[in-house]
Amino acid sequence: MINILTGDRPTGKLHLGHFVGSLKERVNLMNNKTFDNFFVMIADTQALTDNFGNPQKVRENILEVMLDYLSVGLDPQKVTFFVQSYIPALTEITTYFMNLVTLPRLLRNPTIKSEIKLRGYSESQGLPVGFINYPISQASDILGFKANLVPVGEDQLPMLEQAREICRSFNSTYKEIFPMPEPIVPSNKLCARLPGIDGDAKMSKSLNNCIYISDDSKTVKEKINKMYTDPNHIKVSDPGRIEGNIVFIYLDVFCEEKHFEKFLPEYKNLDELKQHYTRGGLGDVKVKNFLYSILEELLNPFRERRKYYEENIEKVFEILKQGTEKANKFIVPTLNEVKNAIGIDYFQDKNFIRDFLNK
Ligand code: TRP
Repeated sequence: MINILTGDRPTGKLHLGHFVGSLKERVNLMNNKTFDNFFVMIADTQALTDNFGNPQKVRENILEVMLDYLSVGLDPQKVTFFVQSYIPALTEITTYFMNLVTLPRLLRNPTIKSEIKLRGYSESQGLPVGFINYPISQASDILGFKANLVPVGEDQLPMLEQAREICRSFNSTYKEIFPMPEPIVPSNKLCARLPGIDGDAKMSKSLNNCIYISDDSKTVKEKINKMYTDPNHIKVSDPGRIEGNIVFIYLDVFCEEKHFEKFLPEYKNLDELKQHYTRGGLGDVKVKNFLYSILEELLNPFRERRKYYEENIEKVFEILKQGTEKANKFIVPTLNEVKNAIGIDYFQDKNFIRDFLNK
């Protein structure tokens, strides 16, 4: 059996960084891979670990993220969408996993380390237990659904490593019930960390440097016009720098040869365009317009699907509700196996009394 599982925290609209970092890969998997189950989870419980004081934000973004999923082409006929907090078995499995992980191990997780810094959790103030526990909860998401494949952004690799350790530890301590999960990350390094439009290292909602999947044409145009290029490339005739030039980094990620034929037939490929820019004589506006055409071609079908689902938001709600029911049914046998493996399945075990009498 092949199960695929992934998810996102519902803390905001998804952006192009999410798209190239993971969503695109999910759509590819959905279309090109044979699988038995493909789960996409809205990780609201995990989102609460650092938004517990602002649950409204999580609540508001459930359908927002669903619209993003559906608009990029995740097909509800093939994918089961569900909400994490509605699957009580996950919490239960998390509790048993908590015994298998030490605090120092959690603190060694590089993603956790940088999040501690980012959030300014200090020694004296201490770490909320829910926060430091979330890698264990994430392992429960992955193993609870017996996921073999987990398509994620590169920042999630330490979480996958933790899940793999828990898998090994549970299987050897109790009983071999969990398959070893494998992460799937984009092979293109640039996709793993799409920079923001301001040239900052990463596209991120909090840095306000995103192009959202749901942005309209006018907004995309404005954002591309603001994009960081080469500050010394002032006149068209000036030689320009490619390194650190966000427009070219985006072209590296989004541009394919077919786009030249369609939108910029004077050039054969990206190398030619880059050479001209470096030499001088090629203006930013022309390159930006090219990128705009490419992004519009990508985003237009997303917008059409989004419009349909926005007009049928009740349907989106039903897709999520029914997916959540299906996920809850799916996980029950796994929870039973977990309890059986540990030996705490007292009321399901016909031999429970016999074992007591023979002990
Ligand atoms: N940590 C992921 C994020 O920050 C969300 C997530 C929760 C997840 N559980 C998961 C991803 C299980 C993949 C598998 O977006």
